[in-house]
Amino acid sequence: MVQINLPENSKISKGKYYKDKTGSKNLRRVNIYRWDPTTGGNPRIDTYEVDMDNCPSKVLDILNKIKNEIDPSLAYRRSCAHGVCGSCAMNMDGKNGLACTKPHKEIKGDINIYPLPHLKVVKDLIGDLSTLYKQYESVEPWLKTSDNKSEKENIQTKEDRAKLDGLYECIMCACCSTSCPSYWWNGDKYLGPAVLLQAYRWIIDSRDEDRKARLEKVADELKLYRCHTIMNCTNSCPKGLNPAKAIAAIKKMLATS
Ligand code: SF4
Ligand code: SF4
Ligand code: FES
Repeated sequence: MVQINLPENSKISKGKYYKDKTGSKNLRRVNIYRWDPTTGGNPRIDTYEVDMDNCPSKVLDILNKIKNEIDPSLAYRRSCAHGVCGSCAMNMDGKNGLACTKPHKEIKGDINIYPLPHLKVVKDLIGDLSTLYKQYESVEPWLKTSDNKSEKENIQTKEDRAKLDGLYECIMCACCSTSCPSYWWNGDKYLGPAVLLQAYRWIIDSRDEDRKARLEKVADELKLYRCHTIMNCTNSCPKGLNPAKAIAAIKKMLATS
């Protein structure tokens, strides 16, 4: 069997242990990935004992409690706390999701929290999404019409509007793209499920006049056809969307156009 060793500076070491100081009888152990680029050390896993008697129901509540009451140095993104902004996406209990909507009761035993997989880490639980945002920009995610000076509403039928259901709800959290093996290995070229779902959202919009050019732009062996329908993306979407279906729909449009 081939043995693959991680580079020395990627090995994760055991970190600090923060023992409970409240005397609570209702404790949970939370293991969190930590890495600080300013110290130059290896990543480590810190463990926190958290008093669950005084903690609301979501994983984000645990992180907030740790940051506010135990260790203010912990870094993570969050904003809306209602599953709308997508910023608190991370890997919890081995699965990507939104910390603000994930009930900690669903996790048995120790709670393990890591950044989204296969991203460069900026600090602790914060992954670097700059490549994904550039890819998102490349699909020009806005309505393109020849009459862009009109002040009238740009209407569409109810049926055409319904075609955007399951697409417009995407919050660009990146849970899908960072769970996609094709994106892990070819993330610099393959657009990945989040961006392809967004591309399809504009391709299918009846008001948009750029469909042909949009399709041509994604019709590329590396940008699109690296999807092998493994379906990890769909299984990891915290909004219940189906990026794999959107990718299949683009392929079908290309095959029949
Ligand atoms: S279906 Fe395609 S986009 Fe989704 S995880 Fe699989 S390879 Fe990635
Ligand atoms: S499709 Fe789902 S998982 Fe992917 S970016 Fe959009 S909301 Fe997040
Ligand atoms: S904080 Fe906005 S989605 Fe979680």
